[in-house]
Amino acid sequence: MLEQIRSHMKKTNCDVFITTNKIHRRYLTNFTGSAGLVWIGADTNILVVDFRYVEQAGEQSPNWELVKQEPTLTETIKSLIDKFQVKRIAFESEYITIDQLNQWQQSFGVEFVPTKNWIAKLRMVKRDDEIEKIVKAVEIADQALKTIIPTIKPGVKEVELALELEYTMRRLGAEAVAFDPIVGSGPRGALPHAVPGEREITYGDFIVIDMGCVYQGYCSDMTRTLVVGQPTDKHLEIYNLVLKAQLAALEAIKPGLTGKQVDSVARDIITEAGYGPNFGHSLGHAVGLEIHEEPRLSQLGEAVLEPGMVVTVEPGVYLPGWGGVRIEDLVVVTETGCRILTQTTKELVIIE
Ligand code: GLY
Ligand code: MN
Ligand code: MN
Repeated sequence: MLEQIRSHMKKTNCDVFITTNKIHRRYLTNFTGSAGLVWIGADTNILVVDFRYVEQAGEQSPNWELVKQEPTLTETIKSLIDKFQVKRIAFESEYITIDQLNQWQQSFGVEFVPTKNWIAKLRMVKRDDEIEKIVKAVEIADQALKTIIPTIKPGVKEVELALELEYTMRRLGAEAVAFDPIVGSGPRGALPHAVPGEREITYGDFIVIDMGCVYQGYCSDMTRTLVVGQPTDKHLEIYNLVLKAQLAALEAIKPGLTGKQVDSVARDIITEAGYGPNFGHSLGHAVGLEIHEEPRLSQLGEAVLEPGMVVTVEPGVYLPGWGGVRIEDLVVVTETGCRILTQTTKELVIIE
């Protein structure tokens, strides 16, 4: 990781790369605190933390030279600039406010060089230890849904299901939810990101459940659609269409394809069936330390898939006033195709 950053630094003639982004700080150093600065020099790896985090950073980032912030971050950076005689600093322009940059520029007589995606690009291909954590986050979500399904019945409210999902994932070892669970029942299933409400589950509903958790910093993401009572022909038509599109995209995924190519596999099937306008979001996105990462499987997805990328495959069809279906798995791209991490069945689950 650090070699690639140093190679970028060389090419842009920068003496140092700094980041204060929480996710990037964790990715590079393993330090999970809420504040701190990463300083990568030609041959120095420094983590600046304040009083609150000195001990924690020592435990989590033993390979990094720790510098205690003293008294302010600005003054600490100033002393590092003087110590290493720095002239040009690469910083992440996406994450630094204009105020912060102005303050740094006024405080230090050095040049600040804006950079983008140095770390995001590295994060696209997951290391084995990252994949292991994602697998664990997937297992917890799978297990939580399995635990909750028997409690779903007419009269139960969406919010009650969402709360049970959150609680169960935490109880099974998740440190947090990856996002607020989405539970959309009946017509509310047509809202792709329905916020669970007071609506009670009713016979004849499709229920879209989209859930995920965080395990040791890494996220999972899964959607299943269940039906309450015997499905009608319309339920089966829409469910089977989305499933067909999802399976075709899974079958297609392999290194060398762009996100757009994979998105088109599912989108073409849904469009040919006449529901193209009802699939208004992208097919998928990468998942890692954040729930939505690059690359995207979308009509704008130019990035080429590589082994080790972890992406969702989540086509959906949403019919306003009636309901919706989304089916979402998390997969890791392999040398020849993909490995599906999500284990929950995709046969239509019927709640009697
Ligand atoms: N839960 C948000 C998504 O599936 O992207
Ligand atoms: Mn999801
Ligand atoms: Mn997703």
